[in-house]
Amino acid sequence: MQVGIDDLAIYVPKLYIDYKDFAQARGINPQKLEYGIGIKKMALVDTNQDSACMAANACLKLMQKNDLQPQNIGRMYVATESALDESKAMNSFVIGMLEEVYGEGSFEHAGGIECKFACVSGSYALYDNTNWIRAEENNNKAAVVIVSDIAKYDIGSAGEYTQGAGAVAMLITENPRLLAFDSKIASTIIKNEYDFYRPFGKETPLVNGNYSNLLYLIQVKKAFDSYKEKAIRTGLIRLRNGESITDHIDLFSVHLPYRKMGEKALAYLLRHEWRHLPRWQHIIKEIGMIEPVPKDPRGTIESILADKEFMESDEKFRRAFMQTSSYNEVFEQKMASSLEASSLIGNLYTASMYMGLRSLLEFEYKKGVELESKRIGFGSYGSGSSAMVFSGVIQPEYRGLVKNMNLEEEIGMRTKLSIEEYEEVHKNERNLNDCHLRGHKEFVLVKIGGSTADKAGFREYNYLN
Ligand code: HMG
Repeated sequence: MQVGIDDLAIYVPKLYIDYKDFAQARGINPQKLEYGIGIKKMALVDTNQDSACMAANACLKLMQKNDLQPQNIGRMYVATESALDESKAMNSFVIGMLEEVYGEGSFEHAGGIECKFACVSGSYALYDNTNWIRAEENNNKAAVVIVSDIAKYDIGSAGEYTQGAGAVAMLITENPRLLAFDSKIASTIIKNEYDFYRPFGKETPLVNGNYSNLLYLIQVKKAFDSYKEKAIRTGLIRLRNGESITDHIDLFSVHLPYRKMGEKALAYLLRHEWRHLPRWQHIIKEIGMIEPVPKDPRGTIESILADKEFMESDEKFRRAFMQTSSYNEVFEQKMASSLEASSLIGNLYTASMYMGLRSLLEFEYKKGVELESKRIGFGSYGSGSSAMVFSGVIQPEYRGLVKNMNLEEEIGMRTKLSIEEYEEVHKNERNLNDCHLRGHKEFVLVKIGGSTADKAGFREYNYLN
């Protein structure tokens, strides 16, 4: 049985900050943001929005464009790290909003939970719901997985230029029109880590930036090793002499905390996969430098980061590798299209990789590439930390969906905030009635808390026509 993503819909909030204004305000060279990080616009939620209404807005779009009724949906999972309550799951808020449109009780028959594991939980949610359908527990109903997040970092921190917000809703069905997941190869890795975390009550995360970058690369590579072992053992991929498994993956979509991280993740993976192959000799010749090794190759991430000599020469080697024709060919053909959305929106935590998938499909199609039967390899990462690597194959009916994708049109008209206006929103100095935009054809937050203590934390939303 083929199960996978039948269609997807996105929601991006309508406020943004421009990288040039941001660079000027923080005294940063704008080229660092444009090329070093890969950001041009960071999406920002207005005071009358939260992660639940972004999720509901994405889900409503998905339902409307596919003429879905609540009775067609058996499960709704929301993956997020922007939770609104310690107990009440985000999907209950989302269902409350959707029932304003579809009628009270219209989702009563369905089920679902909120999932958390930093940015990777959406991938676990997809995997679990795919297997719910594979196990034929679904009673002919579809599952909806929504990933929705607000990436918010401290003002003045290095994370501040990796902020963003948005949601992606995915319809999971049997015989999907868009992408069927390969079975029995999804691979995970998990370890207790403190690369990025947000203790209770704190609005912004505590981040160990460089550590998080290296941990991401290592964890995704370990999950990829396990994927490779399964793909070969199950016969999904058959390697001939001198081939790498990356030769059999047509397109890549990885977690994108920022655009440049995708480029670095591909470089890291290719270096590991290619260094034992005959092609490596040509690459080393082109680079003109031997690949460096750390003083203690079996050391910890801390010891590797502390090995200054190695880190410097390894950075030099990586940059040179990313200039080679071999890397650039793979990058342009297999990854570049997935990164377009990231520069225009920023980090979406759980939704980043799926916005990347959306971007990949649209921009590859616009290039005129035939996508049918192409295999996409996914590298999902969540701090704390866990990685999941899996793959899927684009289905013949993809054209009917992808031909209508238009990121700019779907994001719609956006309003640029000045840095002063952005900081007011960031510091929660405006209340929800002081929003910059009222909203149109979308759910917005109208009230938090009631007049009595037993209504604390109640959230009221309205659909604005
Ligand atoms: P930073 O201090 O800006 O790093 O922190 P940097 O000084 O190394 O600069 C970044 C790049 O800009 C470098 O390029 C510089 O050379 C370049 P690279 O060497 O890497 O190729 N640069 C310039 N380029 C052009 N012109 C210039 C110029 N100047 C410098 N003039 C960092 C960057 C990402 C660490 C920081 O923004 C941060 O802490 N972000 C938050 C954490 C994060 O995103 N980590 C990513 C991995 S963990 C993850 O993905 C999980 C996460 O999404 C959370 C979750 O799972 O829920 C975060």
